[in-house]
Amino acid sequence: MIATAVAHPNIALIKYWGKRDEALNLPAAGSLSLTLAGLATTTTVEFDPALETDQINLDGHQLDPTSRPARRITAFLDLIRTPARIEARARVTSINDFPTAAGLASSASGFAALALAASQAAGLDLSPEELSALARQGSGSAARSIFGGFCEMKPGQRPDGQDAHAVPIADQNHWDLRCLIALTTRGEKKIDSTSGMNHTSQTSPFFQPFIDTVAPDIREAKKAIFSKDFAQLTRIAERSCLRMHASAIAADPGVIYWNGQTLEVVHALREAREEGLQAFFTIDAGPHVKIFCPGDALNEVRTFLKDLPGVHDVLTASPGPGAWLQT
Ligand code: DP6
Repeated sequence: MIATAVAHPNIALIKYWGKRDEALNLPAAGSLSLTLAGLATTTTVEFDPALETDQINLDGHQLDPTSRPARRITAFLDLIRTPARIEARARVTSINDFPTAAGLASSASGFAALALAASQAAGLDLSPEELSALARQGSGSAARSIFGGFCEMKPGQRPDGQDAHAVPIADQNHWDLRCLIALTTRGEKKIDSTSGMNHTSQTSPFFQPFIDTVAPDIREAKKAIFSKDFAQLTRIAERSCLRMHASAIAADPGVIYWNGQTLEVVHALREAREEGLQAFFTIDAGPHVKIFCPGDALNEVRTFLKDLPGVHDVLTASPGPGAWLQT
């Protein structure tokens, strides 16, 4: 009745932004990501019949059971208790070794680790695809952190969402890319991705046009990944990111995740690229900038970022494995 799992965050190169079903958390389109080593969530789940409510401890803080994050986790655990025929409440302890809620997709590694630890503690024997579909119900991007390396999220077609899960496309050793995360603020983000994407889908005239770009972008990005064509991946990943943000900015009222430093980094990076720096950017639902480069350009890119005004810190990650159980 107890298990510990580790999962890594992932960064989308082709963005997920918008749902076709909110209750089952089904994405409106696919997405494509790289799972990262070097940053991790470690989660232990123990079902204990002596408990009256789920006891959830995140990064050393005990959550109030009536708070929104606690209710989200309890609802997720219910998705496991029901098929496992377990009534017991759970003790959940989760630790991130990187800043939570800073646009670093801690919900991705968080729900991936929780899905694996809780399903194992409950005695459910799930395939990786079933685990991915389960993690998706906690957070869409978590479906991708079940797998390592590059993976593609399938939006699925079934109303029950069973076919809405990630699939691996190239393992962590396929291509020696690095991801540097340039932190442009120390604060927490103000509009979480769920609210931002729902508001975009409800009010932005650019939402459907963005969705229409996703499938062709995934096809082209896969080709670039298979042939390790960095220049081509640069073009496709930056345009997917900017189109996602364009749809959010065009919502009513517009959702702007960037701060001044975010744009400074983007402009400086594009200028440095003109001078030969091999790197591209992507940005999620927060102001930090994630920069991808080939492994042999790492030192040059790191020096470039450290010298930029407004960059507080730089985290470095490489392609990582999928979620795994700690024994
Ligand atoms: C901008 O997976 O956090 O990072 O499914 O509502 O939990 P929910 O959303 P979430 O959204 C991630 C959005 C993104 C892009 C991406 O990771 O694809």
